[in-house]
Amino acid sequence: MNSSQEVKILAIESSCDETAAAVVVNGRDVRSNIISSQIDIHTLYGGVVPELASRKHIERINQVITKALDTAGMTPDDMDAIAVTYGPGLVGALLVGVAEAKAIAYAKQIPLIGVHHIEGHISANYIENKDLEPPFLCLVVSGGHTHLVKVQDYGVYEVTGKTRDDAAGEAFDKVARAIGLGYPGGPKIEKASHKGNADAIHFPRAKVSGSAYDFSFSGLKSAVLNYLNGCKMKQIPIVTEDVAASFQKAVIDVLVDHAMCAVEQYQVGKFAIAGGVASNGVLRQQMEEACKKRGVRFYYPSPVLCTDNAAMIGTAAYYDYLAGKRDDWSLNAVPNLKLGQ
Ligand code: KG4
Ligand code: ZN
Repeated sequence: MNSSQEVKILAIESSCDETAAAVVVNGRDVRSNIISSQIDIHTLYGGVVPELASRKHIERINQVITKALDTAGMTPDDMDAIAVTYGPGLVGALLVGVAEAKAIAYAKQIPLIGVHHIEGHISANYIENKDLEPPFLCLVVSGGHTHLVKVQDYGVYEVTGKTRDDAAGEAFDKVARAIGLGYPGGPKIEKASHKGNADAIHFPRAKVSGSAYDFSFSGLKSAVLNYLNGCKMKQIPIVTEDVAASFQKAVIDVLVDHAMCAVEQYQVGKFAIAGGVASNGVLRQQMEEACKKRGVRFYYPSPVLCTDNAAMIGTAAYYDYLAGKRDDWSLNAVPNLKLGQ
């Protein structure tokens, strides 16, 4: 550790289409959080193009890291460890961050800590909620994941439910494309929904047989596509805002319903949300109301900490650092890394 009692971590995130770096001190003190988004490039193709994502990461990563250190007023010599997302995610994109982190850790002879991306999303809740400590229940809803997780301790997770098919964010993205809103779907559907009637169309709320906590969104996506085709065949005008609002309501109803089932079952008294979809204002409001009704404390990160960022990776890494976790030079990208592995 450096001369001070502080643990300073440089964190890197490159698992999808954001090139990000952050300096985090003692886990919850974010000194910088730099995010270079590639959304404008991938929008042209209607979704993330993996090879383009890797190429953009390699072009931008050094500038993003330099900016993170400059903003924090620090240099690589001040760092106690380098943290990096090593999975899950796009393999080529992950490899850019992992190789960069290894190079810095090797050059500076400081510890290297590989972080699970979902663990990072969950840990985003610690940054602004200084009093939040495990155990608590967390719903992680992102473009690639829909997980209901029991956070038993720092770094100790039990997945109690997950999606059987599409992730919640993926459903937002696919439906947005179908109704002509484009990529990324989540924010565009939320914006359109403000002008729509959420009760205009009834879309199904899927239950997964055998598990109260698992999710399924592919049937809902098909129901929206069938509705759109039906309208076209019958020459009924499609009100995009109504479709957006009704679809969003169907997703949120299921997320709230399953999450509250688990809240009641596990009786932990604390519930958090995380991941890109957690920045949805309607979801946040409904979760807040449902938690209030049950006397449960509700936690959520600011929108910028819900979508991909490196601050959350630095926070997760701090608790790994305290637990003595260190990775060696064999650290590799693991595109389908499971939580708890
Ligand atoms: O966590 P994230 O940035 O990346 C992954 O780890 O996947 O999540 C991105 C996902 C996308 O599917 C995006 O459409 C969705 O989060 N999203 C939203 C909103 N903002 C982002 N979904 C619903 N409402 C939003 N406001
Ligand atoms: Zn993510």
